[in-house]
Amino acid sequence: MQSRLEEGKDLAITLRTSASRPFPFRLLQFFVLFLVIGIGASFLSMYMIRHFGIHNVALVQSTFMPCFQQHGSTIGSWIRPASILMHTMNDSELFWRASFVPRIKSYPFMRVPKIAFMFLTKGPLPMAPLWEKFFEGHEGFYSIYVHSLPSYTADFSPSSVFYERQIPSQAAEWGMMSMCDAERRLLANALLDISNEWFILLSESCIPLQNFTIVYRYISRSRYSFMGAIDEPGPYGRGRYDENMAPEINVTDWRKGSQWFEINRELAVKIVEDSTYYPKLKEFCIPHKCYVDEHYFQTMLTIKSPHLLANRSLTYVDWSRGGAHPATFGKNDIKEEIFNKILQNQTCLYNNQPSSLCFLFARKFAPNSLVPLLKIAPEILEI
Ligand SMILES: *[C@@H]1O[C@H](CO)[C@@H](O)[C@H](O)[C@H]1NC(C)=O
Ligand SMILES: *[C@@H]1O[C@H](CO)[C@@H](O)[C@H](O)[C@H]1NC(C)=O
Ligand SMILES: *[C@@H]1O[C@H](CO)[C@@H](O)[C@H](O)[C@H]1NC(C)=O
Ligand SMILES: *[C@@H]1O[C@H](CO)[C@@H](O)[C@H](O)[C@H]1NC(C)=O
Ligand SMILES: *[C@@H]1O[C@H](CO)[C@@H](O)[C@H](O)[C@H]1NC(C)=O
Repeated sequence: MQSRLEEGKDLAITLRTSASRPFPFRLLQFFVLFLVIGIGASFLSMYMIRHFGIHNVALVQSTFMPCFQQHGSTIGSWIRPASILMHTMNDSELFWRASFVPRIKSYPFMRVPKIAFMFLTKGPLPMAPLWEKFFEGHEGFYSIYVHSLPSYTADFSPSSVFYERQIPSQAAEWGMMSMCDAERRLLANALLDISNEWFILLSESCIPLQNFTIVYRYISRSRYSFMGAIDEPGPYGRGRYDENMAPEINVTDWRKGSQWFEINRELAVKIVEDSTYYPKLKEFCIPHKCYVDEHYFQTMLTIKSPHLLANRSLTYVDWSRGGAHPATFGKNDIKEEIFNKILQNQTCLYNNQPSSLCFLFARKFAPNSLVPLLKIAPEILEI
């Protein structure tokens, strides 16, 4: 360092002497400073290469010199969703990244709010052809995410809306916290796309009851998110509450509802960032006394944002046959009558006004109901 500095001085002196006029002292200082910075920078980069490797130096340079970057420095890199959904983040890393929220609420670009359709499945999606019809022609207004058992490999063709929409998944068991983990994982992956504004959880046995236009309008114009959440007395409601959940959760806050929700971005972030209620439910809401997917988000959001909840689900399910599980519709059930029952005999509140359109989706439909469903879809469901 010393000798190179000396050299630098010598050079400056040479410059000075070669000029016949007296050289301004300030300019000389400037030259020396410049050289010191230059030499310093080369030493710094040699140090970085030795200690952090070439790769990281490239990273440091790209963050410090945005002017030289044609790509990456534009707003596009922040708002364009990743073309590949697979990533190597674990849940802590993913949830942390997904919890980023812009503090400036007006978007400095054209943002078309999208609906994220999140499919929580074991493996195949037997209703895929019906969903393909549902999504057709509405590109740009939706995104799709699929969480299945890790052992399952999807084989959709490149022309399918489900092609490469699988997210990194882990095993999920009904009634266990691993089920809510999977739902949070779906939400977190969907939150990475800044344009996703509404988030719908669906299963492989769900079907749409309305066409995309109606679904988009219904959800985007609603003042509330559709999370089923009721305060149910008796053994299957309040009876599942555990005193150990206090003081974070009071029995008066305890809610029950279907796991199939539709929520907005604000609530999705609340679910992903939660570390207050999660440990309580994980420890004290366990089978066979309590089933966490029927209580966790329902209770947590009732405490945090009750004013944003419609307290009802958009997904129809038939409990009329009794028993612990809802009815599954097979191919012989697909007749106009059942859709009349689902579509034409309902009343609910929509934006505080009575409405007859209460459900946008329905479950459970067996794989063999697909063919008759495709047949009636254009006429009865207008899909
Ligand atoms: C994710 O990885 C980080 C860093 O290795 C680790 O600290 C964290 O505990 C991991 N989280 C999970 C859920 O595995
Ligand atoms: C969607 O459904 C509504 C009513 O169910 C119907 O009026 C409308 O024409 C349908 N839209 C399309 C694009 O099929
Ligand atoms: C729990 O509920 C009781 C009775 O409604 C109320 O007095 C108390 O403040 C509540 N505690 C919390 C932490 O909300
Ligand atoms: C949903 O329930 C909460 C209390 O649990 C209430 O504050 C809220 O107003 C209800 N939502 C509607 C739309 O009535
Ligand atoms: C509609 O509901 C009423 C009262 O619950 C019932 O009597 C009627 O049969 C229902 N109609 C259809 C088409 O299911």
